[in-house]
Amino acid sequence: CGIVGYVGARPALGIVLDGLRRLEYRGYDSAGVAIVCGDELRTEKRAGKLANLEKALGDERFSAADRGAGSAPGIGDGTTGIGHTRWATHGGPTDRNAHPHVSADGRVAVIHNGIIENFAKLRAEIEADGVEFVSDTDTECVAHLLSAALADLRASGEPEGPQLLAAAMRRVCQRLEGAFTLLAVDAALPDAVVGARRNSPLVVGRGVGENYLASDVSAFIEHTREAVELGQDQVVLITADGIEISDFAGQPATGRDFHIDWDASAAEKGGYDYFMLKEIAEQPQAVADTLLGRLTEAGEIVLDEVRLSDQDLRDVDKIFIVACGTAYHSGLVAKYAIEHWTRIPCEVELASEFRYRDPVLDRSTLVVAISQSGETMDTLMALRHAKEQKARVLAICNTNGSTIPRESDAVLYTHGGPEIAVASTKAFLTQLVACYLIGLHLAQVRGVKYADEVSAVVNQLQEMPDKLRQVLAAIEPVRELAHELRTAPQVLFIGRHVGYPVALEGALKLKELAYMHAEGFAAGELKHGPIALIDQGTPVVCVVPSPAGRGVLHDKIVSNIQEIRARGARTIVIAEEGDEAVVPYADDLIYVPRTPTLLAPLVTTVPLQVLACEIAAARGHDVDQPRNLAKSVTVE
Ligand code: G6P
Repeated sequence: CGIVGYVGARPALGIVLDGLRRLEYRGYDSAGVAIVCGDELRTEKRAGKLANLEKALGDERFSAADRGAGSAPGIGDGTTGIGHTRWATHGGPTDRNAHPHVSADGRVAVIHNGIIENFAKLRAEIEADGVEFVSDTDTECVAHLLSAALADLRASGEPEGPQLLAAAMRRVCQRLEGAFTLLAVDAALPDAVVGARRNSPLVVGRGVGENYLASDVSAFIEHTREAVELGQDQVVLITADGIEISDFAGQPATGRDFHIDWDASAAEKGGYDYFMLKEIAEQPQAVADTLLGRLTEAGEIVLDEVRLSDQDLRDVDKIFIVACGTAYHSGLVAKYAIEHWTRIPCEVELASEFRYRDPVLDRSTLVVAISQSGETMDTLMALRHAKEQKARVLAICNTNGSTIPRESDAVLYTHGGPEIAVASTKAFLTQLVACYLIGLHLAQVRGVKYADEVSAVVNQLQEMPDKLRQVLAAIEPVRELAHELRTAPQVLFIGRHVGYPVALEGALKLKELAYMHAEGFAAGELKHGPIALIDQGTPVVCVVPSPAGRGVLHDKIVSNIQEIRARGARTIVIAEEGDEAVVPYADDLIYVPRTPTLLAPLVTTVPLQVLACEIAAARGHDVDQPRNLAKSVTVE
C-alpha cells in the first residue's frame, strides 16, 4: 500500500492526491483520503484506481477559491490530510474496505500499510464493547482503539493539543502485533498528523511551514528534498512547523536525516508510453551506475556497507540466496557465477519457502538477500530467520535505507534509480551485476581469484552498457514479433545453464504483463514431459548460449530446437551474433552481441522484456500496473 500525509498552509487534498499518484505502483485496489476541514473530518474512498476516487470527488477536489467566487469551502480546502492507495490483504478490494477507516463517532481517521496479526482478538474485544464494525479490515480496529485512547487521555485531564494524538497512537501501537505503517488524524486536532512505524516503511518530508509523511519519497519529491527516515517502532507527530519522533514508550527518538538526490523527472515517464519502456531503455545507464567505483586502485571489489570482516567471509562454507519473483531469477543466475568463481556451494531459494523448511544454517553460512525494494516481507522474514540462526546476511538492494539492507551485515546497492513499472526490468539487470560483483569479491577475499582475473571480468562488465545499447538499437523486429504473437494461446521459453533462469524470467514477464500462459523450462528437461505441450505453431523462445564459451551446451540446445521444431513449434531463437548453426532451425532469429557465457543474461533478457511489454500493450493491458500485482509486497 502507499500512504501520504500532509500538514501545512496549503489545501491538503491536491497534495495528497498527487502523492498518491506517485505511490500508485505500491497497490491500486482502492484509494481514499481523509481531510480535516475546520473541526470536521471529511473522507472519500473508492474501490479501483485513483481515477475512481478523483471522479467521486469531482469539482470538490479543488479549493473554494479555485472553484470560483461564491463557492462554499469543502474537502478541497482543509490543510491537513491523509491518503491511501491499497493493495488488499484483509478484506476484498471494495469501497467499504478502502482506507481511511473512521472511528464510530466519525472523528478519527486511520490509514494503514501492513497486517495487524492480532486483529481478530482486538476486534472481538472492541465488538464486546458494543462497537459495530463497518468493514472486514484489520485496520478498522486501529481507528476504534485510537478514538478510545484519545477519549481516555482527555478524560484523565491530558491537555488538548497535537501531543494528545501522539500519546494515543503510542498506546495503540503497544497493543498491535504484526507489521504496520499507520497515519491518523483527529477532527478535534486540525493541525496534526501522526504516524507510526513497525516493519513497514515510513519517511518524513521536511518542508518550510509544512511537513509530509509517506511510504516513500516519491510522494513528496516535488515539494522537498529533505527527508527523515523513521526507525523501527517509532511514532512521529508532524505539524506545520514541527516533527517530533518518539519510541512506542514515549521516549524522544531520532530518525535518519537524508537528502534526496533522485531527480524528480526520474519518477516521470520521460516521453515513453510506459514506465516499463523507459526503464528498459535506462538499462545501459543503470548497469553502468551499478558498476561505478566498484574497483579500487589495488583491483579490489568494494561493497557499500560492510559490517563483516574478511575473515568472516573466508569462513563461509555455504551460500543461500533468498529472493522473490524477478529477484529470485537473478539469484538463479548468480548461483552459476558464484559457484564457478568461488567453489563455495550455493543454493537459491524462494524467500517464502526458506524459513519454513528449517534450513541448516550457522555462523559460516552466508545468506544473500536480493530485493529491489528492500521491503518484501517474504525476503525480510527469510533474512531474520537466517540471522536468528547466526548466519551472516548480505543484501543486494535498490532502495537506500530500506529495511532489508538495514538489517544485513553487508550491502551492495544496485544504483538502478527508481523503478516504477510493477514488472521489474532494470532492477533485474542491476541485480545480476551486483551478484557478479559479490561473486568476484568473495573469490578475491578467499584467494581463489586474483586482482588481474577480477579486473578482467570487471572489464567485461564495463563493456555491457554498450552491448545493451546495441541490443536496444536493434529491438524493432521484437516489436513486430510481439504483434504476431499477441493472440497465441501460450508461449514457452527454454534455455540451458544461465539461459535457463533467463527463460524463467521471460515467461514470468509474459504472465505478469500479458496474462498469457507462459512457462520456462530447462531445455534438457523438455523431453521429460513439457514437450507434450507443443502443438502446431506453438511459439517457443529458445535462449541459446554462445558457441564459443561452452560449446557443448550450444550444440545440445541446437538439438533441442530441432526436436521441438519437428513437432510443429514456431522457434524464436535468441542467439549470439555470428552463430550460423541456429539459422536453419530458427523461424525467427534475434541476434545479441557476443558476450562471455556467464554474463550473457544481461543481454539475452532484454528482448524478452520488450516482447512481454509489447504483447501486453497489443492486447490492450495496463503495462505499468498489471492486474492483481503490486511493486512491493509487504505482507507474507
Ligand atoms: C513483487 C513484484 C515483483 C518482484 C518481487 C520481489 O512480487 O511484483 O516484480 O520481483 O515482488 O520484489 P523485490 O522488491 O524484493 O525485489
